[in-house]
Amino acid sequence: MRQNYLRIFDTTLRDGEQSPGASLTSAEKLEIARALARLGVDVMEAGFPAASPDDLEAVRRIAIEVGNPAPGSSGIYNHTPVICGLARANKRDIDAAWQAVQYAAHPRIHTFIATSPIHMEYKLHMSPEQVLEKVREMVAYAHSLCEDIEFSPEDAARSEPDFLYQVLGEAIAAGATTLNIPDTVGYSTPEEFGALISGIIANTPGIEKAVVSVHCHNDLGLATANTIAGLKAGARQAEVTINGIGERAGNTSLEEVVMTLHTRRAVFGLETGIDTTQITRVSRMVSNYTGIPVQPNKAVVGANAFAHEAGIHQDGMLKHHNTYEIMRPETVGISQSRLVMGKHSGRHALKVRLQELGYELSDDELIQAFDRFKVLADKKKEVTDADLEALIEDQVSLSEEIYSLDGLQVTCGTIGMPTASVRLRGPDGAMHVHAAVGTGPVHAAYKAIDAIVGVENDLVEFNIHAVTEGIDALGEVTVRLMAQNGTSHHRTSPQSETLQSKTYGGYGADTDIVVASVKAYLAALNKVLISRSHLAEQEVSKTELMTA
Ligand code: KIV
Ligand code: ZN
Repeated sequence: MRQNYLRIFDTTLRDGEQSPGASLTSAEKLEIARALARLGVDVMEAGFPAASPDDLEAVRRIAIEVGNPAPGSSGIYNHTPVICGLARANKRDIDAAWQAVQYAAHPRIHTFIATSPIHMEYKLHMSPEQVLEKVREMVAYAHSLCEDIEFSPEDAARSEPDFLYQVLGEAIAAGATTLNIPDTVGYSTPEEFGALISGIIANTPGIEKAVVSVHCHNDLGLATANTIAGLKAGARQAEVTINGIGERAGNTSLEEVVMTLHTRRAVFGLETGIDTTQITRVSRMVSNYTGIPVQPNKAVVGANAFAHEAGIHQDGMLKHHNTYEIMRPETVGISQSRLVMGKHSGRHALKVRLQELGYELSDDELIQAFDRFKVLADKKKEVTDADLEALIEDQVSLSEEIYSLDGLQVTCGTIGMPTASVRLRGPDGAMHVHAAVGTGPVHAAYKAIDAIVGVENDLVEFNIHAVTEGIDALGEVTVRLMAQNGTSHHRTSPQSETLQSKTYGGYGADTDIVVASVKAYLAALNKVLISRSHLAEQEVSKTELMTA
């Protein structure tokens, strides 16, 4: 690999999915994985397979479907990304990771253990010598299964540098080929983090055999600055997420690092394999599926990132765009919404356009998409790329449903009480109808749904926006709600006393914003129900194991 090539390691589906409310269905994970491959990431951390059988299965599907060149594919991916699974430094986790990633053309196991005094003493209850021994044993074990091993000393930024050099040296000796240095709690400053990386490169035995990677959290808003400092010190892999999502304040955002290196090439002299024109599209997809909105002033992907409001700025822009613009919107894939299709366009044209946008649909999915496209094209004169993306994302969100929307009618306005009648198809195929009044049509519809579905929850976020300009635009709604991820009647063993409140996101798109709101709410409720049923299945198999 060239010395000036920076590997982009995307962890949206692992560290990103650990964000509150980011729980994704397996169909959504697969769609994001495809979009990441198209974006050109070098390594994709597809999940934490030991977390649950569903997590393992989701990583395995990604390894099979995205981690291999598709036979007879239209060649949409520039290369086949490495598919990586995370594992704590124990055999059970490592086995689970290998079980999931082994199907990829380029599999990787990423194993980690904490090395800071506070983590070793209070979390692991292990001495530094015991941690060293674990690293030797578990990296060697992982390497006996898989050639490509990444090792991370968790909380490296608060670890003793000399101990860190020793741990990393042992990891290399045991077979690790990538050494990832995490600032797990986002505590470092750029000077400190750069010095940490320089120290590691200067003092770790065997370091020339490995790639040094950086993984920064954003608790002080310094993740991108710390990552860039690490790259300047010699790291050649950056671990990032789309939109910077992740635990607490998130991870380093992919778009910020990539566009910094792209815009300031002369300063850094580093290149990546990222197709920057895909950035906006993947950003929207991740935001829609996770239900986590992007702040309007977010660098590169925020709604205002390329908006010029002040008169003096607009005047300058008209004279020369470089006056106030350091990147062209087209470079990150923001184009004027292009007219692509109309109501006379046929199924083949839709298939070709969706392939160009990166969607690989099965025949059944295409039939469904075409029916929905026709309905949309009847309502809306011009169907743009952004409309097609919303349409497909809405379809993917609907693909794992327990309750589905069969009918909705609302009355609202200044006279009378806002009322909604909702008809849902339930898990048994039966229709359930309920009507309710509320403070507005959305409130009334949500109350009617609650009466049918019966999932107690608190709506913590509701966002609505138009996909394109124009009065006939599609409306997109994302919601986030808090609900318990289990119910008392699902408890089958003492181990199941782990009821937790979790945040779930949902997405819906429609030309009718009340319909979009209902779809988003139902998508989130379906995620609660799916996660409860998976938990219940796990409890049953645990009980069966215990009684066998
Ligand atoms: O932040 C962290 O330390 C991690 C490790 C598992 C790499 O995510
Ligand atoms: Zn992390």
